[in-house]
Amino acid sequence: MIWLAFTLFIATRCVDAQVTAQSSVAPELRECYTNPQFLDRNNLPPTTLPVLIDIIQQIEDNPNINMDLRQLAVQLLHTYRQDGIEFHQPDSSTVLSSNVLPYAPTFHSFHRHRLLLTKIIPGYSQVLPNNTINSALKCAVHHMLSTTVDARVRGNENSCNQLSQYRALRTARRVPRQVNADDVEILDLDALKSANTMGKMRHYDPKNDVEYTSIGGSKSERQLLGNSQCPLLSGAVFTRWGAVSAGHVIAGIAGGAQFQRVPISELTKGSLNDYSNVQQTVSSIFTATLSGDLAEVVLIQGTERGNAISVGVAGNWNSTQAPRYYMLHNRLNVEMTDPEIRGDIDGFVLGTLINSNVDTSGTLKLSQLLDMYYSPRNGVYNSARRACNRRGLSQEFIDRETLIAESQAFVAALDTSMPLRGTIVSGLDQLVSSAVQNFQTYTTNNLNDLSCINSETTTNDFRLKTNLYIVLDAAWPYQAVYPAISFLLDGIEVGKFGSSVTLLSAFDGSVIVNKTFSLAEFHSNYTLTRHQALLNGVNLENTLSNIRISMQTELENEKTANYVGGNSSVLLFLLNTGNININEQIINDARRLNETVPDLRILFATSTNQFDTLWNLVRDMHNDIRTISLNNEGTNVENTMNPILTRIQTVGRRIVNSNCGSTFYQEWTSGTRQFADNVEPGYINFYTISPNYFFGNNDNRKVRISRTGSSVGSLIVCQSRTVVQPRQNVTTIGADAEAVICQTLASGNVEISLRGACDGHWLIGACPPFYISVQSQVTDTTSLSATCTEFACRFPYNVRYQVQIEDFGCFSSAGTAGLSLILGITIILFNLVKLF
Ligand SMILES: *[C@@H]1O[C@H](CO)[C@@H](O)[C@H](O)[C@H]1NC(C)=O
Ligand SMILES: *[C@@H]1O[C@H](CO)[C@@H](O)[C@H](O)[C@H]1NC(C)=O
Ligand SMILES: *[C@@H]1O[C@H](CO)[C@@H](O)[C@H](O)[C@H]1NC(C)=O
Ligand SMILES: *[C@@H]1O[C@H](CO)[C@@H](O)[C@H](O)[C@H]1NC(C)=O
Ligand SMILES: *[C@@H]1O[C@H](CO)[C@@H](O)[C@H](O)[C@H]1NC(C)=O
Ligand SMILES: *[C@@H]1O[C@H](CO)[C@@H](O)[C@H](O)[C@H]1NC(C)=O
Repeated sequence: MIWLAFTLFIATRCVDAQVTAQSSVAPELRECYTNPQFLDRNNLPPTTLPVLIDIIQQIEDNPNINMDLRQLAVQLLHTYRQDGIEFHQPDSSTVLSSNVLPYAPTFHSFHRHRLLLTKIIPGYSQVLPNNTINSALKCAVHHMLSTTVDARVRGNENSCNQLSQYRALRTARRVPRQVNADDVEILDLDALKSANTMGKMRHYDPKNDVEYTSIGGSKSERQLLGNSQCPLLSGAVFTRWGAVSAGHVIAGIAGGAQFQRVPISELTKGSLNDYSNVQQTVSSIFTATLSGDLAEVVLIQGTERGNAISVGVAGNWNSTQAPRYYMLHNRLNVEMTDPEIRGDIDGFVLGTLINSNVDTSGTLKLSQLLDMYYSPRNGVYNSARRACNRRGLSQEFIDRETLIAESQAFVAALDTSMPLRGTIVSGLDQLVSSAVQNFQTYTTNNLNDLSCINSETTTNDFRLKTNLYIVLDAAWPYQAVYPAISFLLDGIEVGKFGSSVTLLSAFDGSVIVNKTFSLAEFHSNYTLTRHQALLNGVNLENTLSNIRISMQTELENEKTANYVGGNSSVLLFLLNTGNININEQIINDARRLNETVPDLRILFATSTNQFDTLWNLVRDMHNDIRTISLNNEGTNVENTMNPILTRIQTVGRRIVNSNCGSTFYQEWTSGTRQFADNVEPGYINFYTISPNYFFGNNDNRKVRISRTGSSVGSLIVCQSRTVVQPRQNVTTIGADAEAVICQTLASGNVEISLRGACDGHWLIGACPPFYISVQSQVTDTTSLSATCTEFACRFPYNVRYQVQIEDFGCFSSAGTAGLSLILGITIILFNLVKLF
């Protein structure tokens, strides 16, 4: 415990406003290391970019937080980032005291972090209040922003992929000396001394303001050289363009937001290092990103491994869905891993853009900046500024000579605050240029992330706004069904501007996780413990009637709210129980749901083929029932679930006459009403109007689309009765040439008449829906600007328009209203005649 007492001593010696810069775990982050619920990362939301953006949005939307992008980036770092926290196994003889937290920031990444927070990007006196976000989200964002390596043996190392690199290294090294029975390797000091001809060992200097653990029995060395074959890297966040160390990205943005050049004399506190030949100031953007990591590489590898500088360590997530654990393929030279390289480049580019006032509107949010950069199209006001173009951006933004000079200067600064196993007495220039050279070669040759062309061809150019209701059968093993659900949620983009999810129980239709637009909230509520507490069994009778009641309530709520449209709704049953029993009551409920909630699409995904029982519960039996096979390893999820996702994606956004509520009295016409919507440049929004709103004829019934506000490009409005997702110049197989009609919306508006749209159909069920699309067309070279700064716009350059409806009616296939008007009257007449 001596080291800990010492650490505390240091902490009290250099008390600073920045709690996360102190050498003990920051008080507000401690519960992430003490509470068993949060200590198990499986209970925290996955470390993905959409989750990070979700959490940042929640902070931005918190009424008590009134900060712009620049302030928030700095505050996020100061509140949630603390690099280098490691677990320290108490000596076996010592009983773990409840007074001691066996975690402390001792990994090398902490020292740079501390300089950054205290000297280079100093914060305001107050960090974000503890109650800004709940504890699960706080711990999640802490782990997403904080870089550290956990080298403890986990027991599942047999699942580490591609360990060839590691094995090669291992055989090359000398047989490690054993410290004690729990086979912890320590550094072979003799080997180190003989290999390290350039350095001499440095001794602990009590005047240095850092803790320094002695070589040999040091706990931190056990961490560094512990024997997991694939140590876990914390602080890495999944993106489609490779794992990214998000702390480095936010730090780069903060460094650009509070740009300054800091004299190295301020960072070295007058230490007597002989670094007079380096430039005398460092840039906050460089040190927060590239030169910060390169300095670590140079200092650590330079003192430990001589001339051989190695940049980049690959790794992989241990799950394809809901990723939380990033495993490195190597345990040595982990100073600048692949996620850190990506984070450094991204942070450098974004910090430089912020420093050059890329946001002319002054209203850009941090969440939007990240969302634009990590997006398959458009980018930060310019399609070249996207994560997919990282390689190009690094060539465009990073000047080699400047990087070398900045790195040399920061090496001088960091050397005085980081404990090392040797002292670099000469040859610094070569070490730095070799590190920069390796960084550039590695970035060009080894980071083969998804290119911009493939980003576009492998993603849809439309985004969903779907209220997805999942009815979950507790008979699924959590390990099998959780990844499948997570895949769907990512696919439909659950989020503030996208879709919502509600998790219901197949036992009785009760709510497991309430409707939420937050991925982080969903994942922190639907945990293994929650799943295991669910009641087993599938009771479609109770489930359907409960769901029908709650859906009808939603329609009544929409009526009160004068809702005109926007989102679609899908009800998905995920069933693992075989031989579902269907009775009259169930069929009746399905029919009534069909009649009174016309826009709800019901889908079944079952583990065994139950088509023969389920076919009469859905609208389209050939497409709405699927058999899926999910395994306990959570693999092959994408292939299995993609048909379900595709089906959900074809359900268009609704345009409704909310006056109808759930009762569909015919006299409740809509009059004229409208809603505002917007579309991302180059994207397309699809709508579906159910015949329940236009079955009986009205000559004046129409939809009118008009642009609102100024924005780029043109809008194309298409309509169809047979093509569910109509587009210009795209012929759908089997559809005739006239199936899709398109008009360009320049100024004014486009009117689509619904007159006689169900002529020739006797039943509502026989009359097809009306499909409409609104597509934004821009040329590749269009420059984008912030024209959509209101709350509803996900991206500041979105194109706004209005959808107006006129004289929509209410028709339901229940009772006489289900027939066309004439037919209805005929029946009434017929009955009247019968009476006499
Ligand atoms: C922060 O809030 C959590 C949960 O309310 C609480 O357990 C913790 O003690 C608080 N931390 C501090 C430093 O107040
Ligand atoms: C990934 O690794 C973590 C930590 O060892 C473990 O808890 C989790 O179950 C693993 N997940 C998968 C899908 O293997
Ligand atoms: C529709 O989705 C948006 C976000 O995409 C959300 O703000 C709104 O509340 C949703 N409306 C309904 C009725 O679900
Ligand atoms: C998640 O759980 C918390 C605490 O149990 C609860 O307050 C919250 O309403 C839940 N969220 C949803 C969406 O169900
Ligand atoms: C779900 O949310 C609604 C509205 O926010 C609320 O009325 C209802 O009680 C919640 N249900 C549960 C189970 O949390
Ligand atoms: C639901 O309505 C559609 C037409 O809108 C019809 O084809 C289908 O058979 C109905 N399904 C049920 C279960 O009533």
